[in-house]
Amino acid sequence: MYRIKSQIDTTSEVFQNNKKQYEALLNEFRSRIVNTVNGAPKKAVEKHVQRGKLLARDRINLLVDSGTPFLELSTLAAYGSYENQFPSAGIVTGIGVIHGKETIIIANDATVKGGTYIKETIRKHVRAQEIAMENHLPCVYMVDSGGVFLPEQSKVFPDRFDFGRFFYNQARMSAAGIPQISIVMGSCTAGGAYVPAMSDETIIVREQGTIFIGGPPLVKAATGEEVTAEELGGADVHTSISGTADHFADDDQHAISICRNIFETLEIGHKQHLNQIEIEEPFYSVEELYGIAPIDLKKSVDSREIIARIVDGSRFQEFKARYAPTIVTGFAHIMGFPVGIIANNGVLFSETALKGAHFVELCTSRKIPLIFLQNITGFIVGKEYEHKGIARDGAKFVHAVANANVPKFTVVFGGSFGAGNYAMAGRAYDPTLLLMWPNSKISVMGGEQAADVLIQVKKEQLQAQGAEMSQTDMDSLRKSILEKYEYEGSAYFSTSRLWDDGIIDPADTRKVLAMGIAMSLNKKWDETKYGIFRM
Ligand code: COA
Repeated sequence: MYRIKSQIDTTSEVFQNNKKQYEALLNEFRSRIVNTVNGAPKKAVEKHVQRGKLLARDRINLLVDSGTPFLELSTLAAYGSYENQFPSAGIVTGIGVIHGKETIIIANDATVKGGTYIKETIRKHVRAQEIAMENHLPCVYMVDSGGVFLPEQSKVFPDRFDFGRFFYNQARMSAAGIPQISIVMGSCTAGGAYVPAMSDETIIVREQGTIFIGGPPLVKAATGEEVTAEELGGADVHTSISGTADHFADDDQHAISICRNIFETLEIGHKQHLNQIEIEEPFYSVEELYGIAPIDLKKSVDSREIIARIVDGSRFQEFKARYAPTIVTGFAHIMGFPVGIIANNGVLFSETALKGAHFVELCTSRKIPLIFLQNITGFIVGKEYEHKGIARDGAKFVHAVANANVPKFTVVFGGSFGAGNYAMAGRAYDPTLLLMWPNSKISVMGGEQAADVLIQVKKEQLQAQGAEMSQTDMDSLRKSILEKYEYEGSAYFSTSRLWDDGIIDPADTRKVLAMGIAMSLNKKWDETKYGIFRM
């Protein structure tokens, strides 16, 4: 494969300015992560540690193979909501390796409101289970939770993807042959009791773990019976009397070592084969992405410059290089794994959509994972393009992406606006992972376009009534829309609501993608079958 020849002058003022601004963005990102990871109240952390318990992330670090990374998902979930009282939404989820097996880990953080569940906690838990299901990954639940955060019950209890979905998923995962292990390290109340009860094997920690459908206060109120939590559903009860748990652990460390021992005996099913080659670092440094990533989305960036700093050896076998230049397609390797890349390079036209759909077909027929690099304002508008069938051709691209049964990874490196988000494997298209860069933006359209549209609509409404819109009203509507879109379009707003799987440092992109591809090989990929393409 040929090496991309970068046109970037890293000594130029433009590059250096961008880099400087990007480093400020990164500092902000890193400080938000640090504040979130350390965001639980000091008193709650002290109480937790005094009980001899390990913190959620320390538990995970002990569980995974030493020296291997843990890919934490959606660290900034619930960020900026609930007066920031739910750092990481009170749960840590991600992908780690245990005895060489990629595993989904779901760990309650009991120092955040007793590990209780708000809407975002549920979405994180369910999303992690979905990743386990889609990729056939074993799942470890490190349970330490008071169940539903009761003041928010209407937002977490009754709906299809609410609390009840955990146990539905557990049953379906079990039927699909996905091993699930629970370690009960604290409270496990009410519906939460089904997490260990529906696992293949359950470990419970002495004098810390409890499992019951109704806690002591509820039992007292309902039946008048007085009982301690330990007598009702402690480790001794469940490992010797009820049989709800299988392994008795002296403390967190012991429980984790039992879990690791269980993993030694787990069988992995059939893996998907992918021709791997030796890993080569990109020829152009990944840190140069800071000087190139678009901070001002009005400025265009040649996406080959981004690709050159993500793929092995900066080598890229471009497909249809001379045709439909607003999308760049081609083959490359990331940490030795073959990938097909689709990257935006401007607005989507009819021919761009056709090129994209053709390339998706190549990747599905060759069984190569797809990487979507999003920086897209949307599809082209106007009479000429409608007449030429932009909707018809766009539909082909959307159809191909939706039906592509190879792992899809989406990285938003710039803007993600309009139907371009859909065609480029936005969240609704079930990408295996969707990641944002700190500079990225996502909304139905850009703020300025939305302001123009709304002003135009308002003007026409008033004209129909024989009135006119004053300049002051126009200015004030524009200002309020711009502010709203600026706030709601930010990557932080998105990640807080679980529209993505997390914000990442651009320099980590290739490592994160490689980990995603490695995990996607745990299940044989289904054949792709397309339906009717409108010709
Ligand atoms: N809903 C809302 N808030 C809850 C809660 C729940 N289910 N369970 C705990 N909390 C809050 C507490 O009010 C407290 O908030 P604060 O820090 O603002 O004061 C915080 O979580 C920690 O609770 P605390 O009781 O001090 O911690 P603990 O470690 O000693 O005990 C529990 C944790 C979860 C064992 C205990 O709080 C408990 O039993 N909660 C009720 C569990 C329950 O019955 N759930 C049923 C819901 S399905």
